[in-house]
Amino acid sequence: MATPLLDTPVQLTSVAQTDADRALQGALKARGPIPGHIACIMDGNGRWARQRGKTRVKGHHEGVISVRDITEACAQIGVEHLTLYTFSTENWHRPAAEVTALMELLVRTLRKEAERLHKNGIRLHAIGDLERLPPRGQRELREAFDLTAGNDRMTLTLALSYGSRWEITEAVRSLVAEAQAGRLDAADVTEELVTESLLTRGLPDPDLLVRTAGEMRLSNFLLWQVAYTELFVTDLMWPAFRREELYRAVQSYQDRERRYGRVADES
Ligand code: IPE
Ligand code: IPE
Ligand code: MG
Repeated sequence: MATPLLDTPVQLTSVAQTDADRALQGALKARGPIPGHIACIMDGNGRWARQRGKTRVKGHHEGVISVRDITEACAQIGVEHLTLYTFSTENWHRPAAEVTALMELLVRTLRKEAERLHKNGIRLHAIGDLERLPPRGQRELREAFDLTAGNDRMTLTLALSYGSRWEITEAVRSLVAEAQAGRLDAADVTEELVTESLLTRGLPDPDLLVRTAGEMRLSNFLLWQVAYTELFVTDLMWPAFRREELYRAVQSYQDRERRYGRVADES
């Protein structure tokens, strides 16, 4: 097994990349494969804030800094797809004041960060029931999609008003409609067709799923897509999850053996 990289923690800023960070990234890339698609369940903003006597909303604000840091670090190490669970269908049931604050934060963040994403060669994409988002949020999203549409260094997908069961239900509904219209036979329903009927069509399945704040559950995120994804759960709250811990997650991924149900190579 390869040696760990991170025995001594390195202080990293989220703004300018340090030489130490560049060296760590180089070592990480040399050490093993970088996951092509990383998905994150960004959890623990509220607890992070409460532990510090702050409001939950403050935790969401701080979480945005982690989003920026993780996004840029992923692009720098050569991740091709980063998917962030930003707001779930179930999150609509939170107190109205928190939902409103989250939607405000989405609008402001998109407005502020779209240009930076663009400069970094990152394409923005979103999956979810986007029509439920407030009109201003939809508009900011569309503008950011348009601005970044030509970028191909990394795709950042925000799962917004997203729920896996909702997504699968929508896919089933569209397939049944096709069948009723006489354009689809039951025998033609394959795993590939189901995959293509989901909102994640065109995205490879995640190689690595990170969940912060220690919870050992999927909370309705990408249930179909994570069938063979490697899981990494950290106790760090999302606002405390910065690139250093991301590198630990990638390192852990590099040490796994992905068998896909087969037997290990004994040669
Ligand atoms: C994750 O943090 C952000 C969203 C779900 C929008 P939480 O708000 O779930 O924070 P905790 O889990 O209550 O600490
Ligand atoms: C999952 O976190 C949803 C997002 C990160 C957007 P939650 O905080 O909503 O999940 P539960 O309630 O702990 O399962
Ligand atoms: Mg939570």
